[in-house]
Amino acid sequence: MLTKTTVATKRKYNVLDVKSAKKVATFWLERAKLENAIEFGLPEVDDRYHIWRVPLVGKASHERIGEIVIDAYTSLILEDKSTAPEVLEARLLGRNGHQKAKTKKQNGAYVLSSLRNTIAHGDSEELLQELPAESVNLIFTSPPYYNARPEYTDYVTYEEYLLKIRKIIQNAHRVLAEGCFFVMNVSPVLIRRSSRNEASRRIAVPFDMHRLFTEEGYDFIDDIIWEKPEGAGWATSRGRRFAADRNPLQYKPVPVTEYILVYRKHTDKLIDWNIRAHPNKEIVKASKIGDDYERTNVWRITPAHDPRHPAIFPIELAEKVIRYYSFVGDVVLDPFAGIGTVGKAAIKLGRRFVLLEQNPEYISIIREETKSWLGKEVQQVHTINCAPIDASNILF
Ligand SMILES: C[S@@+](CC[C@H](N)C(=O)[O-])C[C@H]1O[C@@H](n2cnc3c(N)ncnc32)[C@H](O)[C@@H]1O
Repeated sequence: MLTKTTVATKRKYNVLDVKSAKKVATFWLERAKLENAIEFGLPEVDDRYHIWRVPLVGKASHERIGEIVIDAYTSLILEDKSTAPEVLEARLLGRNGHQKAKTKKQNGAYVLSSLRNTIAHGDSEELLQELPAESVNLIFTSPPYYNARPEYTDYVTYEEYLLKIRKIIQNAHRVLAEGCFFVMNVSPVLIRRSSRNEASRRIAVPFDMHRLFTEEGYDFIDDIIWEKPEGAGWATSRGRRFAADRNPLQYKPVPVTEYILVYRKHTDKLIDWNIRAHPNKEIVKASKIGDDYERTNVWRITPAHDPRHPAIFPIELAEKVIRYYSFVGDVVLDPFAGIGTVGKAAIKLGRRFVLLEQNPEYISIIREETKSWLGKEVQQVHTINCAPIDASNILF
């Protein structure tokens, strides 16, 4: 190290040592908003070309993903010789095979994710394969309904629908960090009868989902019942026949609940480990839940409606799940993001979001919404398969 510093001194470089090289590189990283995801290797001077090379290492992967090259005389960054921020981002996300999918764990420690707030347009089965392994700390989602509404006619049979959800649960398993939670809001669906002579059919989707989760490597933790206050979103017509005739066997209660199924990615470690192994005790403390928490597995929450999407869940629901099953600073993923309720709640609670959605209209809505959630920070949102967010019309 001493000789290198001596060479720099002898040559009368402006950048004299490792510390100064790192300082220059830090400005560049901060400007690219990558300082939380990348750290430096050992800078080296190259006096043939009068430059410093500062290796860039992914904080999560500990792998070299590029370098910053500094003109040793002027201390200016040589942009054309340095790895472009977009390339670094792609490598951080494990694309192009530059970052191996696995996030390395040190001595069984809980690894903090380096993912930024991300909006991705496309089929989540595929998008999940592009995210780095174990880079997400909580998944909360509500899957598309099986043909319950005319908008959702993608699946020919119920089996085909289940297979699609299975693949997404399977791909999500790789992306979810050890011992973290996958929470799903799901309810039975009613397949309306096509004629008076036919019976309507109710499919117990949550029980089939349970099977998918346990077969794909998750442990069942809890079934929470979301109860809707009287009248709110109730399908009241269901009990009409019985109310009129009162014949046994015709009894059909009005469904006023949905399930919130809670699973944990299988691990031999106790939940306690996730808390103890967290590297930042202050964050663990800041994530503690106040006295007004839900004591039972019945949560009474008024449903939400939005003219822009037929099936959103209330932000209050997303907030409860995020508070109870993640730490401040964690990354929360919704593979069926809709108009991004999970993202909004995540930001409100100091977490980061990864929102995957295949409908371009909903992606446009999320992109607009993020401006109000994030203000000027919106410029740092990572976008996949859609343009970066134009922040020029926001008043900062
Ligand atoms: C029940 S909605 C979720 C609504 C969301 N919780 C909200 O509050 O806005 C399900 C969403 O999944 C999307 N979707 C369905 N299949 C998908 C897939 N394979 N990949 C990504 N998104 C998908 C639909 O377009 C729909 O917006």
